[in-house]
Amino acid sequence: MTRIGFAYNQKPEPEATDAAAELSRADEEPPSSAGGAHAAVAALVAPAPDDEFAEWDAAETIDAVARALARHGEVIRLEARDDFPERLRAERPDIVFNIAEGLRGPNREAHVPAICEFYGVPYSGSDPFTLALCLDKARTKEILRANDVPTADWMLVRSAGDIDAVVARRWSFPVFAKPVHEGSSKGITERNLAADADALRAIVGDLLERYQQPVLVEDFLPGSEFTCGVLGNGAAARVLPIVGMNFDALPAGALPIYGFEAKWLWDRPENPLEIFSCPARISDVLRAEIEHVVLRAYDVLGCRDWSRVDVRLDANGRANIVEVNPLPGILPDPADNSCLPKAARAAGLDYDALIGAALEAAAARQGVQLGSAR
Ligand SMILES: Nc1ncnc2c1ncn2[C@@H]1O[C@H](COP(=O)(O)OP(=O)(O)OP(=O)(O)O)[C@@H](O)[C@H]1O
Ligand SMILES: [Mg+2]
Repeated sequence: MTRIGFAYNQKPEPEATDAAAELSRADEEPPSSAGGAHAAVAALVAPAPDDEFAEWDAAETIDAVARALARHGEVIRLEARDDFPERLRAERPDIVFNIAEGLRGPNREAHVPAICEFYGVPYSGSDPFTLALCLDKARTKEILRANDVPTADWMLVRSAGDIDAVVARRWSFPVFAKPVHEGSSKGITERNLAADADALRAIVGDLLERYQQPVLVEDFLPGSEFTCGVLGNGAAARVLPIVGMNFDALPAGALPIYGFEAKWLWDRPENPLEIFSCPARISDVLRAEIEHVVLRAYDVLGCRDWSRVDVRLDANGRANIVEVNPLPGILPDPADNSCLPKAARAAGLDYDALIGAALEAAAARQGVQLGSAR
């Protein structure tokens, strides 16, 4: 029987994120922040948006993935906490299925794959380099631009002292600002669209302070938005049915973006936002263009096995890459509107089949034999 290690980070239960729990874990560093204990205590004084653990997976997702993996072998849960290296070394599974978003720092998503490589254990998904690269949206855009894959013009603001220099450079407004290495729409709200220099100064200053990392300022892409699941490798890599976003479903007056409010506040399982259509209702020509830029991005960034790629149309109606997620969100409940499982369903793959396809792609790539279904 194939032994499948399963690496993940589990979100604390809701009550564990309240102030008391925050104090009790003040010696831990929150994911993605450089602040550590200081940030945890500061959060008590001036609460940050409720997005600290937005990237981590809930118990239901972890259980659903474990069930899907169990069809292919014996599943060994390896929560990606401090003792992960020792546990991996002791267990030595035949392959690790990796969905761990990581604990700390801008290379956090690269840690589990790097540790697997260190111990010579095959693993699923992209390698540490691609995971770290895609978590840095500015570096990602540099690679895309160098390979002629369309992406909006941008500048990076590294510190408050840079803001005026960026504003002083001739820049057409509106622009969109966001933390350079976050995911799950952390720090991406209605306020991030800047119509003029003063608004840009205010939002960039706020994001620098709140997220303690550079801020990406880029042309606002005013057109339609799509997100595209990709499965497989090399010539066999394929774009799943494209998910289109219908921003008319957002509350009246909302900015047409899929940000923190839309993702986590307005879209509730008990009252889902009818924001997606899959397959997107678009012309064959546009679909071909989107699939082309998505597969180019997947290829030049070195993505493996699966990913989700966000696309928006620019003012000329051309498809631009917004960002690439080599560790895609995979909420199992269709009511949660998770886009990769949704795209997979439209392609006839249920949740277990999606997880199985990513695992099989990883296993085939590395010559790992999977066990038969149980
Ligand atoms: N340049 C831009 N122009 C217009 N809208 C943008 C731009 N950049 C981001 N957005 C909007 O903000 C949303 C979130 O941005 P982005 O995908 O970069 O963040 P994320 O937090 O990494 O997302 P995810 O949850 O997919 O990981 C996008 O889906 C899009 O609606
Ligand atoms: Mg995104």
